[in-house]
Amino acid sequence: MTFQKSLSILCLTFLFIACNSDDNSEIAGDDYSDIYNLPNTPYNYSDINFPDTFTDYVIGFDNTPTDNPITDDGVTLGRVLFYDVNMSANNTVSCASCHIQEFGFSDNKIKSEGFEGGHTFRNSMGFANAGFYGAESFFWDHRAETLEVQVLMPLQDEVEMGMTLEGLETKLNALDYYNPLFENVFGSTQITSDKISKALAQFVRSIYSFNTRYDEGIEATNNIFMDFPNFTAEENIGKDIFNGKLTPGAIGTCATCHLPNTSPLIFELPLPDGANQVVFSGAEPDNIGLDIDDNVEDNGYGTFLGVSSFNGHFKTPSLRNIEVTGPYMHDGRLETLEDVVEHYSTEVLAHPYLSAHMKDGNGDPRHLDLTPEESDALVAFMKTLTDHELNTDIKYSNPFLD
Ligand code: HEC
Ligand code: HEC
Repeated sequence: MTFQKSLSILCLTFLFIACNSDDNSEIAGDDYSDIYNLPNTPYNYSDINFPDTFTDYVIGFDNTPTDNPITDDGVTLGRVLFYDVNMSANNTVSCASCHIQEFGFSDNKIKSEGFEGGHTFRNSMGFANAGFYGAESFFWDHRAETLEVQVLMPLQDEVEMGMTLEGLETKLNALDYYNPLFENVFGSTQITSDKISKALAQFVRSIYSFNTRYDEGIEATNNIFMDFPNFTAEENIGKDIFNGKLTPGAIGTCATCHLPNTSPLIFELPLPDGANQVVFSGAEPDNIGLDIDDNVEDNGYGTFLGVSSFNGHFKTPSLRNIEVTGPYMHDGRLETLEDVVEHYSTEVLAHPYLSAHMKDGNGDPRHLDLTPEESDALVAFMKTLTDHELNTDIKYSNPFLD
């Protein structure tokens, strides 16, 4: 007889309830099982078995601060905070209102709706592997230096959640169900905005993606320029276009910016640090010629820096889960991936601060002029970056019962 079995028979010989509650005595928040549903033992967030291809390329890029390492209890608390509508001024909006798991932690709106129905200035971004984003690169205009700083900003945003940090501390300190969760992580039930920031940052950082068909392919070949055996012929063509293999002069097309450091000169492996598939996002904000000039409502990084030559520069967003995070661009102006490809193929405009990577030899906007088949292939390739496992994984889902 197994230990499990004899234990359960033993249990049955006693009063069921007594046994059950004894079992539960160590559980985080068991008294609040009518409020949230958390597992007896926290899910594993801290001991992740990354694929080699993943760890090879991100050395030095892990942005986890030494005073806030990921722990299972820390992420569990962060998860509850992330899904809690009590985090907004009128209890209507949580982080998850605009960062929905099945949409790669983005939403499907052009602009998101805040707590009073107002609309955000920009399109909500998805995130995966944000723990490997470069420093000082959070938000479309890179205005947040770290994830710890970033996560407190929507809480205080007038449109998004409308809280003050003091107000938030008072409000959460009055909610009993946080007691065991904060106690588990910080050894005290006292809630401060610093602790909220740490736990939320841990949750966002714990959202790892490495189970896409792309990851399978790179695992099998360890070479981004080889055909992936698990890809269709069309997806492999799309990959070649993305990596610049089809472009004369070998100017990396999409990879130049979306696979950082994969410059045309570095075609052999191992790629240098950071030339990675982990984030599919460049360290530099850039201007891809969406507008003809800077006479627009939002100049992104240029406004943030106060340097006009960066007008129209925006974060190079991660392409992980890109299939499900539309609409696209900082203002959500492009509805589909087909529209995005059409932009790069024929619509790049001659903005005065257009990225050098977007120009041809004459300094004019470079159009890829893809055939319809090539455009389809590029879209098909981007869809290999969807992480279906992550987008349905219960450990990142809403723990609240209502
Ligand atoms: C009302 C909608 C809304 C709410 C609520 C909201 N966000 Fe966001 N989030 C956005 C938008 C819009 C952006 C992009 C804003 C920008 O770049 O200026 C964003 C950006 C982010 C980013 C940056 C990702 C990157 O790649 O730089 C992170 C991380 C994030 N939010 C986490 C959170 C957390 C944590 C919460 C809860 C405390 C939260 N958000 C609440 C809409 C929202
Ligand atoms: C010069 C650098 C650069 C190059 C080259 C480049 N991109 Fe981008 N990409 C960006 C930047 C910057 C943005 C965000 C622009 C904005 O919103 O203003 C972006 C946005 C996107 C988006 C939308 C992401 C989102 O979350 O809304 C997709 C999809 C995309 N690029 C795919 C591609 C593909 C495919 C190629 C090759 C045909 C490519 N990119 C080439 C820098 C680049």
